[in-house]
Amino acid sequence: MSMFDRAHAWQLLNEWTTSPSLLKHALAVETCTVAYGEQEAVRLGLSGDEAEAFVEPYHTAALLHDFDYERHPSLDEHVWVGVKVLTEQGWPDAVRHAVLAHASYTSTPFESHLDKALFASDELSGFLTACALVKPSKSIHDVEVAGVRKKMKDKAFARGVLREDITRGADLLGIPVEEHIGNCLRAMQREAVMLGLEGTSA
Ligand SMILES: [Fe+2]
Repeated sequence: MSMFDRAHAWQLLNEWTTSPSLLKHALAVETCTVAYGEQEAVRLGLSGDEAEAFVEPYHTAALLHDFDYERHPSLDEHVWVGVKVLTEQGWPDAVRHAVLAHASYTSTPFESHLDKALFASDELSGFLTACALVKPSKSIHDVEVAGVRKKMKDKAFARGVLREDITRGADLLGIPVEEHIGNCLRAMQREAVMLGLEGTSA
């Protein structure tokens, strides 16, 4: 149990954030980022406690990537204020770097796998949420990769989501965008209940 584990990240996020949609966004980004962390742990041959320790910063960086956003949404302050707080509190470098890098305007280079996974998960998880919410069932289980690809080409749909950030994320991870969508979609389907995306039909 460390000061810088998931529970403490969740606590810090909730101290700064009251918006339910921002909290849901953090959980969706966490779900996708952690799926990549677990994949990377397997690739590195880690298991048990080692794998858990490896994946922990994927949880915390994702939960904290926008924790200052509600109080400081402007580009002059968002992420800068948050990272300052994380530094004061002593959060690990890897977490602070990933939080900085996810905001492209900081011009922080993507270095670690965590940096890339967080950036790649940020816009896509929001897009997948939007894809679920337009289904009659409002269920993430009814979303399919092909449908997501189609919606990406529909400029009127979820206009706030930058399509080029989704494809850039896949590029950073070195995988085709279809694979990236599939990875995040499956991860969010596994956590559908936590994310409130299990649908309305009982
Ligand atoms: Fe975000």
